[in-house]
Amino acid sequence: MNITEWTTALRYRPYHLWDKEYTKTLEEQVQQSTWRLDFHIQPKSGLLNDPNGFSYFNGQWHLFYQAFPYGPVHGLKSWFHLTSDNLVDWQAEGVKLEPSTKYDSHGVYSGTALPIGEELLLAYTGNVRDRDWNRLSYQMGALMNTQNQITKIEQPLIPAPPEGYTDHFRDPQVIPYQGGYLLIIGAQTVQEEGKVLVYQGDTYTNWQLLGELDYMPAQAGYMVECPNLVFIKEQPVLIFCPQGMAKEDFAYQNIYPNTFVVGEQFDVNNVTLTNPQPIQNLDEGFDLYASQVINAPDGRVLSVGWAGLPELTYPTDEQNWAHCLSLVKELSIKQNRLYQTQITELEVLRQKATPVAGELGALTPLVKENQQNRYELRLTFSPESHGKLHLFADAENKHPFTLHFDAKNGKITIDRSRVSRPLNEAFGTTRTITIDCKQELTFQIFVDQSICEIFVNDGLHVFTSRVFPEIDQTNLFVEGENGHFSGTHWQLRSTFS
Ligand code: FRU
Repeated sequence: MNITEWTTALRYRPYHLWDKEYTKTLEEQVQQSTWRLDFHIQPKSGLLNDPNGFSYFNGQWHLFYQAFPYGPVHGLKSWFHLTSDNLVDWQAEGVKLEPSTKYDSHGVYSGTALPIGEELLLAYTGNVRDRDWNRLSYQMGALMNTQNQITKIEQPLIPAPPEGYTDHFRDPQVIPYQGGYLLIIGAQTVQEEGKVLVYQGDTYTNWQLLGELDYMPAQAGYMVECPNLVFIKEQPVLIFCPQGMAKEDFAYQNIYPNTFVVGEQFDVNNVTLTNPQPIQNLDEGFDLYASQVINAPDGRVLSVGWAGLPELTYPTDEQNWAHCLSLVKELSIKQNRLYQTQITELEVLRQKATPVAGELGALTPLVKENQQNRYELRLTFSPESHGKLHLFADAENKHPFTLHFDAKNGKITIDRSRVSRPLNEAFGTTRTITIDCKQELTFQIFVDQSICEIFVNDGLHVFTSRVFPEIDQTNLFVEGENGHFSGTHWQLRSTFS
């Protein structure tokens, strides 16, 4: 079966009607893909989008993702489940939460998880379309037991959007709060303004609307998706995806940004983040959305995002699969600034370490014979230096993905304009940030076949980008002036057999 046109009927075809052989063919296409990831979560077949239900429960990490297993398009969504002991090696558990009731007939949409007693509460949006294809949105619950068996709660936790809001009402986050719970959710007013609503409940089946969260002076476009309220050492941080936000209010280049606002305090009585800092990009790269962030029981604040964006196409579509998740990151606040760092668990991936060092000058290979786009690179450049680091490069360096750095003037640009498989160029081929000038500049870079995550200056900024190299485009080159560099290159192992 070769699907050339994804009609609505095909996108919403019930899972049991898909032929097993067809799905097997899709799985093989993923296996054979040279863009298949080696240490990132990616779909077994078809499309992956938002991370869901990230949690620690029953002695293990749990993570789900939005799945459409039958092609590289957005269709009838379910939750695909994975478990892990170390946040790095993940075990695929399969599709666990499928559309099956009148409250989620057209998709088990995004949501979160929270351990409650001996069970894990999964809170999600049930997406429904009526005969005239009008959208209806129900906030649903399910309970997973210690055998990882899931039972849906029959009645909706929240049966409808409140008066004055449309059915673009989704992505509930349930968090413990003052002995009860809060539920944070993305919403749209009937005037088509994006909002974040906050509910409070003494139990998870009984919610009272507190109101619209007040967290920034600007209007958050026409819809807010995937809002997360987390507390980093008591300080509230809202992480969210505003759609259609005015560029005068906030500069961004991706079709929809994944953003954050740091507040001073969460004032529950006035549903307000007090003294909010200006809205900022959570990620400065080309491809990150729908991050899910949790206050983990070990005290860390952990996040994971979808390395992809809504409504865009990617080169793997030709191979019938799409997207992956980002690495799990740890969030912290230092001097009122948000940092995102690689988790220490990732060190279990390290294999051969090669020291790298030198003076900046004419174009030169950074490491000899890097045969795999599967490595970690830590590099420090001296405070006056500027130049370029080329990744995913062919032997002649004609089609690299380039990181321009200028420590002296405090500027970094990632540049996807020369890659051999250009993508989504309508949204620009570069992304630029400014940093403190005349300071040492450190990059921690993770490259995995078709993704590159660059942590700048110990996580003050992160660039997440998909890149789709040809098989021989595994070289790294450096060039520049006025300084030197030093660091380590590690080959990494794969987490999949
Ligand atoms: C964000 C999103 C969510 C929704 C889900 C559906 O990417 O649109 O708002 O719940 O994806 O897959």
